[in-house]
Amino acid sequence: MRATSMRILMTGATSGIGLDAARRLLAEGHELIVLCRDPERATQRLGEATDKLQLLQTDLADLTEVHESCRRLLRLNQELDAMVLNAGLQYAGDKRPRFSAQGIELTFAVNHLSHQHIVNQLLPLMTLSNNGRIVITASEVHNPTSGGGRVGKPASLGSLHGLNNERGFVMVDGSTSFDADKAYKDSKLCNLLFARQLVTKLNQNQTAIPVITWSPGLVIPRSSDGFFRYSRQINPLGQLLFAFVARDLLRLTVSVESAGELLVGLISRDDLGPGFHYLNNTLKGPGQHQFLDTQTSPEASDQSLAKDLFERSDELIRMALKESNTEI
Ligand SMILES: NC(=O)c1ccc[n+]([C@@H]2O[C@H](COP(=O)([O-])OP(=O)(O)OC[C@H]3O[C@@H](n4cnc5c(N)ncnc54)[C@H](OP(=O)(O)O)[C@@H]3O)[C@@H](O)[C@H]2O)c1
Repeated sequence: MRATSMRILMTGATSGIGLDAARRLLAEGHELIVLCRDPERATQRLGEATDKLQLLQTDLADLTEVHESCRRLLRLNQELDAMVLNAGLQYAGDKRPRFSAQGIELTFAVNHLSHQHIVNQLLPLMTLSNNGRIVITASEVHNPTSGGGRVGKPASLGSLHGLNNERGFVMVDGSTSFDADKAYKDSKLCNLLFARQLVTKLNQNQTAIPVITWSPGLVIPRSSDGFFRYSRQINPLGQLLFAFVARDLLRLTVSVESAGELLVGLISRDDLGPGFHYLNNTLKGPGQHQFLDTQTSPEASDQSLAKDLFERSDELIRMALKESNTEI
């Protein structure tokens, strides 16, 4: 574990797992730069901005805002010791796709594309640190053989046919029938493929940074917000029943606090060397989890798919920003 204070950029630090982790990191004396869409709510939850807490208003569903926040940070030219890409959403159960400011399906845009752009832009700041790392919150549902991944349509990006049409696609595999649950699983598969290709690119540039992906397990908070808030609006009774059975009856879930603690542990660990890592908080029995290095699904290990996704995502970002009159 690191004893010294780190300068950490975080997304998804205003609710759930990320909020718990951010509070712990601040309490440990680290410096946080939080990209958040609602700074007022962030202030209520994390406290007023200080020299240890910077809140940058950034809706990850708008690439121009993401780009502007990155520009501001680049202008400061201060080192980043960690980038923690934790923001994520799902709206499972909704039959209608939602779109980002640039007309890109929302789950893909927020969970994957915004994070790829942040890393691409801010890597120069990480190379100023002598001990940088990137931590990405994925999910075991990327894997069609995992407990959660088996329910509903499995994650698969096919040949990325959706990305052929630039924007307006509803599924990355090109299917025209929208499935919000699969879109979420696909976005988490994208997180892992992005991490794989990032490592390849870092190796080519002889930049030795750990890229740590992880899956927290199923986290269903008792509060009315959190990860299942959108799905709850669509199917309140079904979600109530699911939460009761999974959390209270079968005890398949992890608390927000233990997931937050795991995330902080990953940010601070010094024993994970440069390269790709995936750790999964695997369910071992009712109320029992084990957090271990784990194999990703075969599709998430496909280097050629990873390269293709990375390049097409870059192209999509470039096009979207260009049409929004934003220069990269
Ligand atoms: N909960 C689970 O069972 C579970 C399981 C596996 C993986 N995960 C992953 O864990 C991560 C954290 O999830 P969680 O359970 O802590 O969910 P959560 O409580 O809903 O937190 C999600 C975070 O993402 C942020 N976010 C979402 N859309 C955004 C946008 N357009 N712009 C800026 N920020 C945005 C939210 O900001 P606001 O506060 O403004 O809404 C919030 O800070 C996600 O990547 C999720 O995919 C969760």
